[in-house]
Amino acid sequence: MAEHVLAIDQGTTSTRAIVFTARGRERSRAQAELTQHYPGPGWVEHDAEEIWQATLDVTRQAMAGAGLAACDIAGIGITNQRETTILWDRATGRPVAPAIVWQDRRTAERCAALAAEGAEPMVRARTGLLLDPYFSATKIAWLLDRTEGLRARAERGEIAFGTVDCFLLWRLTGGRVHATDATNAARTLLFDIHRQDWDDELLRLFGVPRAMLPAVHDCAHAFGTTDPALFGGAIAVRGMAGDQQAATIGQACVRPGMIKSTYGTGCFMLLNTGDHPVVSQNRLLTTVAYRLDGRATYALEGSIFVAGAAVQWLRDGLRLIASAGQTEQLAHAAAPERSVYLVPAFTGLGAPYWDADARGAILGLTRDTGIADIVRAALEAVCFQTRDLLEAMTADGAAPPTNLRVDGGMTANDWAMQFLADMLAVPVERPAVTETTALGAAALAGIGAGIIPGLDALETFWHLDRRYEPAMATPERDRRYAGWKDAVSRVRTRA
Ligand code: G3P
Repeated sequence: MAEHVLAIDQGTTSTRAIVFTARGRERSRAQAELTQHYPGPGWVEHDAEEIWQATLDVTRQAMAGAGLAACDIAGIGITNQRETTILWDRATGRPVAPAIVWQDRRTAERCAALAAEGAEPMVRARTGLLLDPYFSATKIAWLLDRTEGLRARAERGEIAFGTVDCFLLWRLTGGRVHATDATNAARTLLFDIHRQDWDDELLRLFGVPRAMLPAVHDCAHAFGTTDPALFGGAIAVRGMAGDQQAATIGQACVRPGMIKSTYGTGCFMLLNTGDHPVVSQNRLLTTVAYRLDGRATYALEGSIFVAGAAVQWLRDGLRLIASAGQTEQLAHAAAPERSVYLVPAFTGLGAPYWDADARGAILGLTRDTGIADIVRAALEAVCFQTRDLLEAMTADGAAPPTNLRVDGGMTANDWAMQFLADMLAVPVERPAVTETTALGAAALAGIGAGIIPGLDALETFWHLDRRYEPAMATPERDRRYAGWKDAVSRVRTRA
C-alpha cells in the first residue's frame, strides 16, 4: 500500500517538493529558485512556464531522493503562492501573458476607482477581502483589456484563468482538469465565501467572464490524476490549499482561537475562527482557512507584503550582506540605543493600512549609522508589523493569544524571534518542522487518500523546537513601537 504523500509547494521565490510519510515525517525534498521579473515600478511578474518546469523537476527529484515510484505515492497535495494570476489558452495549454504576481500594484488605480464608486462594502460583505491590487480580479481584467482580442476569446471560453495551484493541476493532469479549491478561490475577489460559489455580481463588477473560471472543490478532494508520462505512472492529486492556509494546517491550528504567523516573502498571520466568518472592523481579511466535507472553516488574516523580501533586498538590492544568515550576527552588533526605522513598503502597505501607493523609507539616520543598524531595522520592521496585525486582531475581539506559532525562513533567526516575542509580549513558538506549508498540503493529500485520519492527527505531528519568552520591559517596548508608528505615518498616502 502506498504510504507516502508528496507536497508541491510553489511559493513566490521558490518551488519545492517534499515527500512525507503518513506520520508527517519528511523523507526527501528538492527545491528550485524562481526568477522574479520587475518590468516597471511596483510591477512583479513570473514566467508560468518556468514555474511548471521547476515543479516537474523538483517533483521528480524528490521522488528519486526517497527512492519512490509513482505507485508508492498515495497522493499529491498542491500548495501555492496565492492570488498570482495566470491566463492560458485552453487549446494549447500555453500562458497568454506573464503571470501577474500577488505583490504587483499595477491595478491600484482601478481599485481606487471602484472604491470611489462605492463598491467596497458589497465586495467586503461577499468576499471578506478589500479593494486592493493584491487580489486576482483586477489583474485578470487588466490582462483581458490590454491584450488584443483576449477579452472576446475569454468570453468564447477559449481562455482559462487560474491561480498557480489551478495552472499546475491543469498541467499535471495533461489539460484534463480545470479546478481549484475554496481557499484559493477565496482570494480572487470573485468568490462569495458564505455561499461558497463564484458570484455573478462580482464577475460583472470586475469584468471577468464566467467561462474562464475553474470548478471549486474542498481542500481534500479527488482533483484528478497526473498524466502517466510525467512520473512513470499516474498519481492522484488529492489535496490543495493556498500556502498560508496550508501552513495553518501544518501548524495544527485546527481549533478556533489558534493562531500562526508565517515569515516567507511576506508575513501572513491567520487566526482560526471556526465556522464563524468574523467581519473585521480593523481592515483584516476574512478568509477560508480550509473546507472539508463541504464545510468551511474560516480565518481572520493579517497580510504583510514584505518580510523575508526585506532581507532579500538587503542582500541582492543593496548588497549590504552576502547571506540572510548574517543578519542575526549584525543585529546583535547594532548599537541598541540607535533608533533607525526601515518601513519596507516596497509594494505599498498591506494590513491594517492598505495603502497601495505608500513606498518604503529609512528614517532616523545619523552620521554614525552603519550597515548593522539598517539590517537590524529590517528585522525589527517585520516584528513591528506583526504587532500591528496582532493589535488589529485583538481590537476585532480576538482573545489575546497565549502563544504565537511561527514558521518560514526568517524563524531560523533567533535574534528576530526574541525581538518578536519582546514586541508582542507573547511567547513565540517555533516547531521542529518549519516546512509547515508543505506539511499542511501533504496532510490534505493524506486525508484525501485516507492514510491520515483527519485534521486532529496534525496535533500529533507538531513538536516544539524552541519557545521565546518576552523579556523586554514595557516602557522600552512601547517607546520602540511608538517610533515605528511614527515612521509608518511618514510614508502613508491616506489615513
Ligand atoms: O498571499 C501571498 C502568499 O500566499 C505568498 O506567500 O510564502 O510565497 O510569501 P509566500
